[in-house]
Amino acid sequence: MNGEKPPLGIFGAGWVGLVTGACFAALGHDVVVRDVVTKRIDDLNAGRLPFHEPGLAELIERNQDRLTFTLDVSELKTGTDIFFACVDTPPTPSGDADLTYVWSVIDDLGDPGHATLVMKSTVPVGTGEKIRATLDQRGLEGVAYVSNPEFLSEGRAVEDFMAPDRIVIGALEEGAGDRVAALYEGFDAPVVRTSIASAEMIKLAANAFLATRISFINEIANVSEAVGANVDDVAYGMGLDKRIGTKYLNPGIGYGGSCFPKDVSFLKLLAGNSGYHFQLVSAVIEVNDLQKRRVVTKLQQRLGDLRGKRIALLGLAFKPNTDDMREAPSLVLAARLQAEGAEVHAWDPLVTGHPDLDGVAIAPSLLDAVRDADAAVIVTEWAELRDLASTEVRESMRTPLIVDGRNLLDPEAVRAAGFQYEGIGRA
Ligand code: UGA
Repeated sequence: MNGEKPPLGIFGAGWVGLVTGACFAALGHDVVVRDVVTKRIDDLNAGRLPFHEPGLAELIERNQDRLTFTLDVSELKTGTDIFFACVDTPPTPSGDADLTYVWSVIDDLGDPGHATLVMKSTVPVGTGEKIRATLDQRGLEGVAYVSNPEFLSEGRAVEDFMAPDRIVIGALEEGAGDRVAALYEGFDAPVVRTSIASAEMIKLAANAFLATRISFINEIANVSEAVGANVDDVAYGMGLDKRIGTKYLNPGIGYGGSCFPKDVSFLKLLAGNSGYHFQLVSAVIEVNDLQKRRVVTKLQQRLGDLRGKRIALLGLAFKPNTDDMREAPSLVLAARLQAEGAEVHAWDPLVTGHPDLDGVAIAPSLLDAVRDADAAVIVTEWAELRDLASTEVRESMRTPLIVDGRNLLDPEAVRAAGFQYEGIGRA
């Protein structure tokens, strides 16, 4: 026991579980994080993080006295009665959420007596109700269930945890909700207390809405190209309207990652399974799929037939400051370019390979990637790419063409440096 801070048990040493565990440890809780993957626990005990997340390794190191990583579920259950479920809910072949790991948590929990189970994993609306019914069937009425979705964005997850915009707590019993709310005491953020179903829906709706903004601005970008407007100015001018706001209006080659693609699809299917055709999210998905492919068309317009052309993909991760390749637009782009006969070279500051990048030459440096290239495509807006339009890069390329898939560079400066330039929605 550690003063007034209750000890916590966390199921899942993935990205959400580790950030949650390390942050609660930093707040003074003793935390046991349990995973079923031996290598992951061995790595963590040896001080190695399974993925890149800024600030997390340092946070774990600083709070190692309060953090335990284990494979042993009984170690997790000793000394705590508040459990967080932070396990993966990947899509099944039908696109619905695979809740296998969530149900394993319920099985592994066994009978902990009076306890609180807090769901952080993203689950379809209605999951909490099903879990409640299962707990009751098993005679586990003493286990309170609370939905407390996470709103952590990769690359800034520690910051997002420590300074959230809001904390959402969905509970059936007020006391259980109070117990979870108490864990966030001292946070300067509104606490939204609601039903379990509404908490589950807040998570899906928030991600789907952000994805909708991205697909919306990408369509505005595409129309801007056709009519001679500049999407950057349009987004800025729109976003200054306080009712709209400027965030999540950066056009590009589409959203990726482990959350938006999956959650938008979950929402679509959830609606469909309940008999409602959610047309808007279907369009959001379709726009995003096509957006990734538009870069290939842009390259064809500039270079003609892509057979034998050497294309440098700069940035592979789905966004900067992470090595996460889940649903990364780079994967679709690389495959499309290869299908058109292009020779694809790639560089990323963190990603050095991926099973779906078969046939792509991963260059050891940015300069190696662009050498003799017919075009350099900015796929991920890494800070390292801000100085791409250098003399060294221009002289090493076969054709000094930059296709800026993230509108990272200043077109005038790039052209003044002797490059051809093409962005997204920049007339
Ligand atoms: C997202 C949400 O932002 C988090 O709030 C949420 O908790 C998380 O999903 C989750 O459900 O766990 P994340 O997937 O880490 O976080 O990434 P974002 O930074 O939101 O970016 C997602 C994708 O959208 C990236 O591919 C990014 O390049 C793209 N994006 C983002 C744009 O194309 N334009 C923008 O204006 C913003």
